[in-house]
Parts: sequence; structure tokens; C-alpha cells
Amino acid sequence: MRKRQARPSVARVYSYVLGGRDNYGVDKALGDYFIDDLPGSVGVAIANRESVLRATRVMAAAGIRQVIDMGCGLPAAENVHEALRRIQPGARVVYVDDDPFVVAHGRALLAVDDAIAVVEADIRDPASIEKHAEVARLIDFDQPLGILFGITLSFVNDDEDPAGVVRYWADRIAAGSQVYLTQFRSGTSREAIATERKILEAFGRGRFRTDAEISACFGSLSLDPDGLTACTRWHIDPADTPEPSLWDELIIGGLARKQ
Ligand SMILES: C[S@@+](CC[C@H](N)C(=O)[O-])C[C@H]1O[C@@H](n2cnc3c(N)ncnc32)[C@H](O)[C@@H]1O
Repeated sequence: MRKRQARPSVARVYSYVLGGRDNYGVDKALGDYFIDDLPGSVGVAIANRESVLRATRVMAAAGIRQVIDMGCGLPAAENVHEALRRIQPGARVVYVDDDPFVVAHGRALLAVDDAIAVVEADIRDPASIEKHAEVARLIDFDQPLGILFGITLSFVNDDEDPAGVVRYWADRIAAGSQVYLTQFRSGTSREAIATERKILEAFGRGRFRTDAEISACFGSLSLDPDGLTACTRWHIDPADTPEPSLWDELIIGGLARKQ
């Protein structure tokens, strides 16, 4: 019999709207609310995921052979190590998540060899991640490193200092490293307000931010000239011309480099 869960989890609801099957009734109920009542939010989740994979390929094309995925989520149709290794065979990945359900599934499905680890840790405590034995084993901080924050900082409250979390890593990574960050963007539309309210109500945390607040998270890193861009358009094939939608503006991404 399947275990009952009292609360939905971010990872399982996100996975559910992306078509995943590892969820409980409470996750499905919330996922169905997004699908039925805020249908554009499904496109937001897909756009985020696809942009994270494109960012991984951009990093790989720049020669990056090691990535830490902060708040990796449940295994998906395509995963970061697969995108990275298509360009950089044998590249190393540390997946980090604070949800034990994600970690258990990740260890079973993502950790396919010794160059991949799935670590249970809280991104709000970066020192614990840096000190983790698997990070010490797999990550060489003297070499360019890719760091992904796929939507995760949206679940870090202001008083937990999301910019400080990025700064911690910016201070440690070598020149040539890259950080890709996506974040819910605040807005005044009915959809933006309803989505933010629902996320906060369901998960007890979650913050949509202005462009200025999101840019501030990059600190001293150099944001690419394309700046913060809707994930639907970030580094897409120029031949693709997605139909603009108000939902596009609710999730944006930016890639920054350590000079
Ligand atoms: C919506 S999923 C995104 C997954 C993936 N990064 C992506 O963009 O496709 C957010 C993930 O962040 C994780 N998460 C949220 N807050 C976290 C924290 N403080 N530390 C570690 N993981 C966290 C959740 O458990 C969840 O798996």
C-alpha cells in the first residue's frame, strides 16, 4: 500500500506536472490544481526544466566538466549528467537536495557511476555542502565548475539571504566557472499573484522576486549580456519563435561567469 503524505512536496508536484510518476495523492491534488486552474503554470515548469538543460549544455560547450546541481529535484526525462556528458563524457555531477524522497530516488536512478553523487543537504547552508565528503571527492574548486540553481532560490526566504548563498560559491569557484539561476519573477497579473499565493500556501515558503532582486543574487559574478531572460526564450534555437505568453514572464533565468 502507498504511504500517505500530509503535505505536498515541491519536488513531487514539479515532477508530477512534468509528467513524472513518483508522487502521492496530496501532490497530485496540488499538481491538478495547477494544471486545471492555472494551466499556464505547467508551461512555466517545462520552460524552467528545458532552460536548465540548455544551460548545462552551454557549460559543457565551454569546457566545464563538473557541475553541482543545487536543489536537483526528482529524476526527469533528461537529467543534468546526461546533458553534460553528451558533450563532456565522464563529467562529474553532484546532485544536492534537502528532500530525502528526492535523494532516495536520485541515488537509485541518477548515481549511475562513481563520478555522480546525490547528497542530502540544504542549499541555505553552503558550507555543509562544500565540506561534504562526496563534494570533496568529486569537485575540484581549482577547475571551472558549473553551478545550477534551477528555481531553488525561489524557495529561500529573504531573511535566509539568497544572494549570500550565491556569494558563498562565487567566492570559492575558479575563473571560468558559470552559475545558472532561474527564479520566479514577481508580477501584478492575476496569474502571477494566484500562483505565488498558491505556492506559499502549499509549501509554506516561496518568494517571487523582482528583476533587481534576482540580479542582485549574482553579486560580483558577470551576468551574460543577454541578462535575465524568460526561460521560454533563454538560449533557444533562433529558428524557434515561441508564441509570447504572460506566463513566460513568471520564470526567468540568467547565466553568470566568474572572470
Ligand atoms: C521545483 S524543483 C526544481 C528541480 C530542478 N532544479 C529544476 O530546475 O528542474 C525544486 C527542488 O529544490 C529542492 N529544494 C528546495 N529548497 C531546498 C533547499 N533549501 N535545499 C536543498 N534543496 C531544496 C526541492 O526539494 C526540489 O527538489
